[in-house]
Formats: sequence, C-alpha cells, structure tokens
Amino acid sequence: MANPDSKPPGKLVEETGATVDTFHVAPVSHLWLGRLVEIDSNWNPRSWSVQLFERELSSSSSRVRGLFVQDLLVGYLIGHVVCDEAHIVSFGIAPEWREKGGGKFLLADFLRMAPLEGVVVISLDVRASNQRARNLYSRYGFSVAGVRRRYYSDNGEDALTMRVELPRPNGKRSEAE
Ligand SMILES: CC(C)(COP(=O)(O)OP(=O)(O)OC[C@H]1O[C@@H](n2cnc3c(N)ncnc32)[C@H](O)[C@@H]1OP(=O)(O)O)[C@@H](O)C(=O)NCCC(=O)NCCS
Repeated sequence: MANPDSKPPGKLVEETGATVDTFHVAPVSHLWLGRLVEIDSNWNPRSWSVQLFERELSSSSSRVRGLFVQDLLVGYLIGHVVCDEAHIVSFGIAPEWREKGGGKFLLADFLRMAPLEGVVVISLDVRASNQRARNLYSRYGFSVAGVRRRYYSDNGEDALTMRVELPRPNGKRSEAE
C-alpha cells in the first residue's frame, strides 16, 4: 500500500516542487500548430501566425522543442542551428504552467541537445524589461553581449543580445581557442 507521506515519484527539479516526471520534452509535430499559436499569443505582442510556425516546423535548420505535461503541450522553444551556432528565436510557457520549473527544464534540454550537433555558441534576443526571462538565461550561463536599440517595433524597446559558449567535446570553451 502506498505511503501517504511519500513524495511523488521522480526527482525534484530543484526547489520548484515539480518533478522530472511532471514534464517531458519532445519535438513538436504539425498536430500542435493551433496550440503553438495559442501559447505564443498569450505573451508575444508581435504574435506569430500559423504560417510562421508551420515554416519553423518544416525548416531543416529549426529545432522546435515542446514541453509536455502528459500529452498536453504547455511550452515550446524554437532554435535555429547554423553550423556551430544556435539562435533561440522563440520560447514561451503557457501562463498556467509558468513558475513551476518548466522554463528551466526546456532551456536545459536545449543546452543539452545543442552540443550533440556541434553547437558551441547559443545566442538570443530578449526585451530589456523582461527580467523573468533574463534571470532564467543568466542562471544558465548566458551573459549580455550587446544591445539592439529600439529593436521591438511594438513599443520601441531595446533588445539585449545574450549568449553562452558551450564546452566543446574536448572540454575547452570556444573562446579559449
Ligand atoms: C520566461 C519564461 C519562459 C520562464 O519560464 P517559467 O516556466 O515561468 O520559469 P521557471 O519556473 O522554470 O523559472 C526559471 C527561472 O526564471 C526566473 N523567474 C521565473 N519567474 C520569475 C519571476 N516572477 N520573477 C523573476 N524571475 C523569475 C528565475 O530565475 C527562475 O529560476 P528560480 O526559480 O530558480 O529562481 C516564462 O515566464 C514565459 O513563458 N514568459 C513569457 C514569454 C517570454 O518572456 N519568453 C522569453 C522571450 S526572450
């Protein structure tokens, strides 16, 4: 008989209370186009169309990774991979699933997967005011590499370009070479 005091199965994802069994990450298929648009429209003032997501799903340089809870898509991360560099072009978690460790889980997955295809540098642009996302990126080693003045057309806000260098297979970071 199950012990009522026992913790749920799976290892705790740091202090969030979610377990590694709560989330899993998998490539996103075209079946989820509507859900991708729904999640994106919840946060993105320049929200993406179905066609734009469709293009990402069909592009050989795009990696569209989905965060799932059981069989429900609750977040996504899209990265473009060109040679040994990746650029994260969109990343969002459904509002009801935020602050439960899912963002960390999905970003960590991308950081783990990217080196497997030879990526040594990952970059992204983030709104200067998006402290939540900036905290998350900093936590995973990203630092500010530049500022794009008035980059966002909806409110003229600056973008911060953040980047992280990943260890190469020989253990060296690319900047050391
Ligand atoms: C940014 C986003 C992806 C983070 O995902 P999340 O699942 O809410 O984040 P997590 O629960 O995994 O938390 C990860 C880290 O984010 C930061 N964070 C989360 N919520 C925060 C808050 N309310 N205030 C400040 N930092 C916060 C913290 O560093 C946190 O780590 P910690 O809890 O160990 O301190 C999510 O909030 C989101 O979808 N936001 C809208 C879309 C967006 O801004 N995308 C990024 C575009 S560049």
